[in-house]
Amino acid sequence: MRTVVRNHPFFRSGALTLSAIALGVAVASTMVRAQQGRTTEGQMTFTRDVAPILYRSCVRCHRPGEIAPMSLLTYNDARPWAQSIKQRVSKREMPPWFLDKTIGIQKYKNDPSLRDDEIATIVRWADAGAVQGNPAHMPAMPNFDDMTTWRIGTPDLIVKYPAFKMPATGPDLYGILTAPFGTTEDRYIKAIQSRVVDSDSRKVVHHALSYAVEPGDDGDIGDDAGGGSGQFLVEYASGKNATFAASDSGVLLRAGQNARVSYHFHSIGEEAQAKIELGIVFYPKGFVPKHVQWSKQLGQESAPDIDIPANSIVRRDGYTRLNSAAKITAWQPHMHIRGKYQCLELIYPGEPVKTETVTCAGWNYNWHTIYNYEDEVAPIVPAGTLLHVISWFDNTAANRHNPDPKNWVGAGTGRTIDEMGFSWIGWYDLTAAEYKAELVARKAAQQPKTTTDQPQR
Ligand code: HEC
Repeated sequence: MRTVVRNHPFFRSGALTLSAIALGVAVASTMVRAQQGRTTEGQMTFTRDVAPILYRSCVRCHRPGEIAPMSLLTYNDARPWAQSIKQRVSKREMPPWFLDKTIGIQKYKNDPSLRDDEIATIVRWADAGAVQGNPAHMPAMPNFDDMTTWRIGTPDLIVKYPAFKMPATGPDLYGILTAPFGTTEDRYIKAIQSRVVDSDSRKVVHHALSYAVEPGDDGDIGDDAGGGSGQFLVEYASGKNATFAASDSGVLLRAGQNARVSYHFHSIGEEAQAKIELGIVFYPKGFVPKHVQWSKQLGQESAPDIDIPANSIVRRDGYTRLNSAAKITAWQPHMHIRGKYQCLELIYPGEPVKTETVTCAGWNYNWHTIYNYEDEVAPIVPAGTLLHVISWFDNTAANRHNPDPKNWVGAGTGRTIDEMGFSWIGWYDLTAAEYKAELVARKAAQQPKTTTDQPQR
């Protein structure tokens, strides 16, 4: 079974139309002023208007020695990229955060995305000749604490994955590495981070997803989904990423489990070692947090049926029933290179059936982004709620990641040229009483405000 979709809002890119009109107006007026030969208040300069945006949202990756292809630290660095910057930010391809801002929950932890007015500033700057402006207006250089240090405090446990020798040239490599945690009793994780150890590793490692797996599960099938049995822990991708459990929850690490990392490495023109570590801060021994935090692949589309003809856009659906009430804390789409867009819909139990689309995001295989809901909007759902994951695959030439739109594509977990569709869902279970209490607390918190949807950046 498959449904061919041509008219979903995402493919009409309705989301971009409004801001494109707004930008167009802004740009036109800037050009008029420029033609009049005046340096007006409306003129955007690098030093005063653009650099602060780049420093906040871009340079953690766009600086020497980091994962991005070029530095954006200085005017001279950024000037040649002005048009490319304009394009990437107006299509919301940079910074990598592909959330659909027109649907569902709009409050996320660590949302790095640009506001519409920031995008407009960059567009106006690029269109009006990308001028430098007064060097005295340049903001202070951000204070880069070494990206390779721990951001979770001093870890109680550091797991070192075996170093991987990446050849100087060749295709990107995907695979897994395993190392023991060495734990002899069950422990709850309070904070966890994966890091790459040095600048060579930083260049080589595109992303690295860590899992806890059962002993004996050596998972050498090269499965980018963690071998199925793994409990997802944390991701390293391009300059991020530490994960902190909510204060009343923790991730259970069972005694004797192994750490497994699923990696994507680039060659960098010279042979290099990729070294990845995992740092963990535990709750004290014997401490059991109120809630156990889970992160699992759910709403898996029924894999054997996946069927994507050449040159077509196909929708797939997957469902998982939550047997107990829950608070959903995080959502991370997962597809392969034909993946284009994914939504999470909740189908509530009872009659008449009520549904709610909570999040949708574009998909780019290069970026495995976790969208963590802000606490005050994280969905609180009753037992029996169905998670409905809707995945769209674009097997046409319009998908610039598509290696071969002339080919049929089927399901597969191992090769990125085969397809998958599911979501990583982060959640913790609630008892019936906790569920009620959470709902009451949520309503109380919403009382003073009106129920306006807060349109977001
Ligand atoms: C999390 C790291 C990260 C952040 C944050 C980030 N970038 Fe990037 N950027 C990359 C990487 C990696 C690439 C190359 C791969 C790709 O294109 O996806 C890239 C590519 C680009 C390109 C295309 C370069 C080319 O070769 O054509 C532009 C332009 C760009 N980024 C601008 C920005 C701007 C502007 C911001 C901030 C608003 C930003 N990026 C934020 C990592 C990042």
